[in-house]
Amino acid sequence: MNYYVLTLFPDMIRQITETSILGRAVRSGAIHVETVNIRDFSTRSSMRIDDYPYGGGAGIVMEPEPVYQAVRSVEDRLGHRPRVIYLTPQAKVLDQTMVEELAQEEELILLCGHYEGIDERVLEEVVTDYVSIGDYVLTGGELGAAVIIDAVSRFIPGVLNNDESAQFDSFQDNLLEYPHYTRPEEWHGRRVPEVLLSGDHGKIEAWRHEQSLLRTRERRPELLEKSFRITSIWYGTETARETAQSLAARLSRYGTVLDYGRKKLQKMHRSFQPQDLVLFVLPEEPQEMALSERFRNLRGEHTPAILLADDPQQEECRELAKLLWEQGFSVIGQETREDAYRTPEGCVELALEIRKKVLQ
Ligand code: 6GU
Repeated sequence: MNYYVLTLFPDMIRQITETSILGRAVRSGAIHVETVNIRDFSTRSSMRIDDYPYGGGAGIVMEPEPVYQAVRSVEDRLGHRPRVIYLTPQAKVLDQTMVEELAQEEELILLCGHYEGIDERVLEEVVTDYVSIGDYVLTGGELGAAVIIDAVSRFIPGVLNNDESAQFDSFQDNLLEYPHYTRPEEWHGRRVPEVLLSGDHGKIEAWRHEQSLLRTRERRPELLEKSFRITSIWYGTETARETAQSLAARLSRYGTVLDYGRKKLQKMHRSFQPQDLVLFVLPEEPQEMALSERFRNLRGEHTPAILLADDPQQEECRELAKLLWEQGFSVIGQETREDAYRTPEGCVELALEIRKKVLQ
């Protein structure tokens, strides 16, 4: 990821991106952060870039031309036009879904304003996204730009090591993290919860999920309505199982993986809600059993479903899509998004897109 930060105070950005995990990521080349000083594009001998507001009132406003030239200098160098994000309290507040979406880009231009803001006309001409980091007012956009760089970079390969990995954040499920403990086993008379010492990974995962739910209900109940459940269904081959598992893990800490090769599962009735996302991973080779038989007991309620197959046009895949529609699922991208369900990468991208739509 390449970030271009357009600012009057490049030192603020440098300080943050030279330190700790971001500093390490810059040095290793996993991310690239460049600051562009808007003042370098001043059109005046005084090097000023701000002036009084038309219509009067307090404060000063940044002129359009230096901002425009600063943006153009990056675009001209790249030979194309990346998204230009203007940091401002007059915008939608950044959340994890927006962060994941921004992480899909190759480059981002982050435009930081100061004083009362920037002349509206240049914003109309160059800005593609307006982002706020919360409902309070800051002195400038630099802290917002730093927040975006930090949050987005966690999704860039090579930025976090295994211990710091972002893939298991319960925030991915729109839930708050469960509580964490380290040594000593007892501190100030408080013991580490017994289950964490049990060594039973199944139990520990279940306890953590429950703690996440409890904590979210207590501190951020509004998030629960937006929580998104991933179910990854596969049958057939070992490859299909691996794909189903890795997709579920990338999209959710608490995703469920179901083997629909098992007769027992096929017999059970299962209903999904609109905030579920179901991934169907089809085997490379058609299997003997009719699909109508295998998935007969699944019901959706406008539940988004993604089919993952080597060849989406194969008879079996089309048949499954039709069946799922009839049982209440919204099968996504049957004709138009072939790549999305042909490759795991495309599938993750599509899933993030769907989640964004559902959570809005
Ligand atoms: Cl991103 N910028 C500024 N200047 N103020 C803010 C903000 C951003 N988010 C909240 N307040």
